[in-house]
Amino acid sequence: LYVGVDLGTSAVKLLLMEADGTIRNIVSKEYPLFLPHPGWSEQNPEDWLEKTLEGLQELTRGYDSQQIAGIGVGGQMHGLVTLDDQDRPIRPAILWNDGRSEEETRYLNEEVGKKKLSEYTANIAFAGFTAPKILWMKKNEPENFKRIAKIMLPKDYVVYKLTGMFCTDMSDASGMLLMDVKNRCWSQEMIEICQITEQMLPKLCESYEVAGTLRPQMAEKAGLTEKVKVVAGAGDNAAAAVGTGTVGEGRCNISLGTSGTVFISSKNFGVDQYNSIHSFAHADGYYHLMGCMLSAASCNKWWMDEILNTKDYEAEQSKIEHLGENSVFYLPYLMGERSPHNDPKARALFIGMSMDTTRQDMTQAVLEGVAFGLRDSLEAARNLGITVSRTKICGGGARSSLWKKIIANVMNLKVDETESEEGPALGGAMLAAVGCGEYPTVEAAVEKIVKVVRTVEPEPELVEKYERQYRRFREIYPAVKNLY
Ligand code: XUL
Repeated sequence: LYVGVDLGTSAVKLLLMEADGTIRNIVSKEYPLFLPHPGWSEQNPEDWLEKTLEGLQELTRGYDSQQIAGIGVGGQMHGLVTLDDQDRPIRPAILWNDGRSEEETRYLNEEVGKKKLSEYTANIAFAGFTAPKILWMKKNEPENFKRIAKIMLPKDYVVYKLTGMFCTDMSDASGMLLMDVKNRCWSQEMIEICQITEQMLPKLCESYEVAGTLRPQMAEKAGLTEKVKVVAGAGDNAAAAVGTGTVGEGRCNISLGTSGTVFISSKNFGVDQYNSIHSFAHADGYYHLMGCMLSAASCNKWWMDEILNTKDYEAEQSKIEHLGENSVFYLPYLMGERSPHNDPKARALFIGMSMDTTRQDMTQAVLEGVAFGLRDSLEAARNLGITVSRTKICGGGARSSLWKKIIANVMNLKVDETESEEGPALGGAMLAAVGCGEYPTVEAAVEKIVKVVRTVEPEPELVEKYERQYRRFREIYPAVKNLY
């Protein structure tokens, strides 16, 4: 049996999988997210570990612990976790959707220069990336900065505590803006620019490489044996891509979680010369391109929970009738936006309401606004000459069949639904299975485990309507961006 862990922003999800891919159990444990200032986003690393250990106990209760061979963790990317020389977190982790490092991002892109950054790392700076946050800490918390002994990403903290091994994987490390993605090694130039040392950074591994086995006290807390192997794991998007079979050449996955991503796998390294989508290493040993919107399913959650004050998302969505004809538009930038605008100050907006606008129109606009945002990333990939005609989909938002239909038509893509939509957790378990020798490669695991059960086809008439709507959507951000 293999355990996959998805260390998310709202909760950690754990999944128990048999070697052939059969899912035996799933549990989820929430932890708090702190938003201490507008645009800031933090979490306590200790909460991740505590909830992961609790989750492991609960997940495997009733199963023979001797049968559990491996664990693979996929985690929220880019978060800055800093430990002192006693291995204690110096401050709360600064997360992927935290926009505080705007000034440092500008410094990196303009003074160091996009061309150089892209040459050193394959990417430019975005406020959520790790390197600008290190510079933020240096400037704003010099005492904390001086105490840094180790720098790591969220899931690396959990793997470190579980195994004692200070390591990361290529896919997650790509999002730090400290890694030379093409050559799969740390960038000496970026280490210098951030005024840190290579000793502060974890060892780079491939996602399916075994990092270590469980430390005795952790095995006891998790209710597992010390023999359990823990692989290096992956960033949640790469793990999700493994879980939906998005590996090898030219496959696409959309993740509709707190963030929204369009992920395109490739056997070859490539860079977006316009810098709007990221060029990262993949968990299968190759590469991928990815566009990321900072608020996707979280827009719908905010709209339903905070504004409409309902938990029955399905009932709200079931009243929506006129797809492609909405006069209300929604700009989905609750936490600023990464791809393609790179604007941490951007905020959400409804536009186009009239006296006859209904609650359903607004709900529909939220779903459509996120789909248009995803289309922006797809367009960035199309601008590079990449042809995509179908995609997989995963994440909490993928439970809505209406949303999938909107996405299929807004993006003009066939949307293939896989048997399980547990992208990152399933991918984590698959990486563990590869690490433990159950499959020779990630591709072999995908071939055996991932099955498409249904395809949502775009409808030509609706595609055309949404094409017109998308063109109108594209006009909104440039018209309002100076107001933020
Ligand atoms: C990707 C990104 C998000 C987080 C969400 O670049 O920032 O998708 O990984 O957990």
